[in-house]
Amino acid sequence: MSSVKLAPSILAADFARLGEQVAEAAEAGADRIHVDVMDGHFVPNLSMGAVVVQSLRRVTPLPLEIHLMISDPDFFLDEFVAAGSDSFLVHWEGNNNLHRTVQRIRTLGKRAGVAINPVTPASVLDEIVQDVDQVLVMTVNPGFGHQQFIRTTLPKIGRVRELVDRRNAGCDVEVDGGIDATTAPLVVRAGATVLVAGSAIFGDDNGVATAMQRLRTACNEIEEEILQRS
Ligand code: DX5
Ligand code: ZN
Repeated sequence: MSSVKLAPSILAADFARLGEQVAEAAEAGADRIHVDVMDGHFVPNLSMGAVVVQSLRRVTPLPLEIHLMISDPDFFLDEFVAAGSDSFLVHWEGNNNLHRTVQRIRTLGKRAGVAINPVTPASVLDEIVQDVDQVLVMTVNPGFGHQQFIRTTLPKIGRVRELVDRRNAGCDVEVDGGIDATTAPLVVRAGATVLVAGSAIFGDDNGVATAMQRLRTACNEIEEEILQRS
């Protein structure tokens, strides 16, 4: 039984068949659904809003994790909570009141996570890690799906893992961007426990189930190897 969780990102899904695609991912063992929200300011791209969450909430029991790549996350929290969101990932970058945002999410009864971009050091999490349920290490620059995994983030994942183990052992260490069957073992070895994957799951010609299986197998193999070595 794998301890690594898979979070398919619907950014890469076929939006004309969104419910169906999410059901396929759920059937294939997805642990949560990752929803990428972009505003064209914080990142140079637009994606989706709370209406999509509202529709998904009606068709899936899986936790809906909302990755807010927007300039003013606080303005939109209530709307996303009303739509049925379960957790929020907010960025360290550009937020002058990160602690307040995290506290608001928790006051709303939802899981809170902080995301950091590829060149943002792990140490910025020092004073917030004890207040969150998950940290998200971006392994590409946020804004688009199907980008190449940035390998220099690997040692940082290790540093985030150390920090989490020391200060808040229950906290998830999640990675997002360019995760596929080749990069998954690298991030798991570095200490990630939750893997977001978009194009590797919804963009696979062999279908969602096969793609999920391939990722799961890659995770299981590396976990087995780590176990044998320890
Ligand atoms: C990027 C998003 C990611 C994206 C991942 O800004 O935060 O969640 O959907 O897509 P892939 O897995 O294709 O890199
Ligand atoms: Zn994301």
